[in-house]
Amino acid sequence: MKIIIISMLLGICWARKLQIREAGPTYVCSHCQPEQIHIAFGEKVNDIVVTWSTFNDTQESRVQYGVGIMDKEAIGSSKLFIDGGKLMRSQYIHTVTLKDLKFNTRYVYHAGSVYGWSEEFSFHTPPAGEDWPVRAAIYGDMGNKNAHSLSYLQDEAQRNHFDMVLHVGDFAYDMDSNNALVGDEFMRQIQPLAAIVPYMTCPGNHEQAYNFSNYGARFTMPGPDSTLFYSFDLGPVHFVSISTEVYYFTHYGLKLIVNQYNWLREDLAKANLPENRRRRPWLVVMGHRPMYCSESNDIDCSCEYTRTGLLGVYGLEPLLMEFGVDLVIWAHEHSYERTWPLYDNKVYNGSYDKPYVNPGAPVHIITGSAGCQEATDPFRPDPMSWSAFRSSDYGYTRLVAHNKTHVYMEQVDVDLKGKVIDSFWLVKNQHKPYNIKH
Ligand SMILES: *[C@@H]1O[C@H](CO)[C@@H](O)[C@H](O)[C@H]1NC(C)=O
Ligand SMILES: *[C@@H]1O[C@H](CO)[C@@H](O)[C@H](O)[C@H]1NC(C)=O
Ligand SMILES: *[C@@H]1O[C@H](CO)[C@@H](O)[C@H](O)[C@H]1NC(C)=O
Ligand SMILES: *[C@@H]1O[C@H](CO)[C@@H](O)[C@H](O)[C@H]1NC(C)=O
Ligand SMILES: [Fe+2]
Repeated sequence: MKIIIISMLLGICWARKLQIREAGPTYVCSHCQPEQIHIAFGEKVNDIVVTWSTFNDTQESRVQYGVGIMDKEAIGSSKLFIDGGKLMRSQYIHTVTLKDLKFNTRYVYHAGSVYGWSEEFSFHTPPAGEDWPVRAAIYGDMGNKNAHSLSYLQDEAQRNHFDMVLHVGDFAYDMDSNNALVGDEFMRQIQPLAAIVPYMTCPGNHEQAYNFSNYGARFTMPGPDSTLFYSFDLGPVHFVSISTEVYYFTHYGLKLIVNQYNWLREDLAKANLPENRRRRPWLVVMGHRPMYCSESNDIDCSCEYTRTGLLGVYGLEPLLMEFGVDLVIWAHEHSYERTWPLYDNKVYNGSYDKPYVNPGAPVHIITGSAGCQEATDPFRPDPMSWSAFRSSDYGYTRLVAHNKTHVYMEQVDVDLKGKVIDSFWLVKNQHKPYNIKH
């Protein structure tokens, strides 16, 4: 009897074992599930780059995608990223480029490998050409904690309100914190918007650890020097992203200042070739630390290195004038501020009643109040003469570049449940270098 029972049990076990062996999945890997999925524009805006992380090596990086159904596949690669912290935590960061997509088309995709796939996402490629309104969400200084604007941005992105996001530096607070666990968590928090809308970035001071390596590894921006600077054309706008941090963390190389200055000069000159400026008249530059601000407690601003350069050389403000940059977007101050047309601390109102109609100088926007654990910054009691509007409520900025002559911007106040507290039109029928004697 005993023997029968034992052999029956053994038989059941044996059958179980067989069953597992037969029905078991062929590809098993315990930390190969894709996470932190996000997209960006590639070398052109109908190339979309998908980036994600896995904690084990999946040997392959694949994106299956298509219009309506995922009937195409693109192959990319992964890089082992090792954080500079004590634990030297590692992860594989995968990038796959979906090339030559149809314009103005919704694609579905998922990312992964034989070891596991992400959920399905979709994105809408931009229309072809220049004659369509570009809609962007713009903000800086959004952290893993206290990210007041995050739910608004996730919601708006999923309602298809944006063609892209510009995150103007300072992520997560900080991506390298707690052995880069904070970075991982932040990348998961932005996935609901960053996996469906191109998430375009520039580095801020909070990215500086280990030579900006968390930033450089996690975000895939276009161009060979994309950890520092890059540019792209979208609709009637030429967008330029720079690193203001090269002026502040000089121990990573003084030559970075020179390289960026020379690149920016060349990039803006190219954008000003008559044929280019005619097709894409708007020039928008973004960088993290502002050239102007009016916080009461900020010593960075008085340095003004980005504006005037180090020891008076390689300052960037003269380039804004020389090449007729229309709009400059900064963050770093945890507040929102709009300037009158401004150059070298002087206001150049186009016509006094309508300062933004053919303005006499670039207009600056500082939008660093998306929300982070450092809260918002108070202002000096008396606004500077160049200050047109300021608010230290949490929020983010919307931009609509309607066409070659009209750009609209507004500030969303999330403390006031999404109320628009500031808006203005920038109107130009001629885009060209400013006529300012220096
Ligand atoms: C995946 O990662 C874990 C923990 O780091 C490790 O123990 C395991 O061997 C790795 N490989 C596979 C194929 O799961
Ligand atoms: C820091 O990184 C940049 C590229 O992002 C590189 O050009 C530079 O040489 C690095 N500096 C140091 C000190 O490693
Ligand atoms: C610029 O125009 C605005 C709006 O008309 C006005 O309030 C401001 O005082 C002007 N500034 C200068 C310096 O003309
Ligand atoms: C540009 O957009 C503005 C605002 O929508 C509109 O009033 C204007 O007529 C447009 N111009 C052209 C040439 O379409
Ligand atoms: Fe900052």
